[in-house]
Amino acid sequence: MPNHQTVLITGASAGLGFEFAHLFARDHYKLVLTARSGPKLNELAEQLRREHNVQVKVIPLDLGLPQASQTLFDETQRAGIHVDILVNNAGYGMSGEFARIPLEESYGQIQLNILALTLLTRLYLGPMLERRSGKIMNVASTAAFQPGPLMAVYYATKAYVLSFSEALADELRHSGVQVTCFCPGATLTEFQKRAQTENSRLFKSLSPMDAKTVAADGYRALTEGKTLAISGLKNWLVAESVRFAPRKLVTAISRWVAEPISR
Ligand SMILES: NC(=O)c1ccc[n+]([C@@H]2O[C@H](COP(=O)([O-])OP(=O)(O)OC[C@H]3O[C@@H](n4cnc5c(N)ncnc54)[C@H](OP(=O)(O)O)[C@@H]3O)[C@@H](O)[C@H]2O)c1
Repeated sequence: MPNHQTVLITGASAGLGFEFAHLFARDHYKLVLTARSGPKLNELAEQLRREHNVQVKVIPLDLGLPQASQTLFDETQRAGIHVDILVNNAGYGMSGEFARIPLEESYGQIQLNILALTLLTRLYLGPMLERRSGKIMNVASTAAFQPGPLMAVYYATKAYVLSFSEALADELRHSGVQVTCFCPGATLTEFQKRAQTENSRLFKSLSPMDAKTVAADGYRALTEGKTLAISGLKNWLVAESVRFAPRKLVTAISRWVAEPISR
């Protein structure tokens, strides 16, 4: 059965965004997919059209460039696309001591994880408010709940996403627009490679979840209208427990988890 709603997914070429695209296509949404890799997006779009008979528009863009969010919005406006659901999923991290990470990588995370997410939310919110209907899902992380030595900027960007999303959900509670903050824990995607965190305790010994399961949790949270959802019971317990533990202890454990191990 055709679904007349359109979802825009950022970071759809890999990992969680790729799985979100499959879930929305299964339920016959029209899709707008963006990421930097045009060929990967086109391949995914072909697959979704073939398997689910859905409309898919691909807009390859580097959201790490300050003007890209506006370009994306303008392009969907020009094409007459009403975005009913915005999934702000694109994001990346970089591991290492802050002082040793090239500054452009720190800025890059802030640009993508914070600035692009904020601007896209602001841009697509306008038409949603006019229609008194819409959904926004911001992908944060369990990293949002505590400081993260050896990934300081990444953890801080996700704390921003959590705080921003919960506040916005409250502001919009009578507007017809719903905001969901989705917090995955460690998940097997391409994230680890780019973040150079494949050898961390977190990814080597603490059983990361698979992307399909995590995306399904996010999709359910969005459809159920949750303001905050943490994927996986273990991740939920950890995120909740840090609220009652001394900050110094939480930070020390966070560092231990992020440290590389040799096996
Ligand atoms: N994996 C985890 O352990 C984990 C845990 C918690 C939260 N998260 C969050 O989940 C979200 C998805 O991450 P993932 O694990 O699925 O990572 P992933 O497999 O690396 O996928 C990231 C997606 O973002 C896109 N992207 C990266 N830089 C971009 C840019 N400058 N402009 C536009 N698109 C860009 C990538 O495509 P291109 O390379 O083609 O641009 C890709 O489609 C992120 O916000 C991440 O912080 C991940």
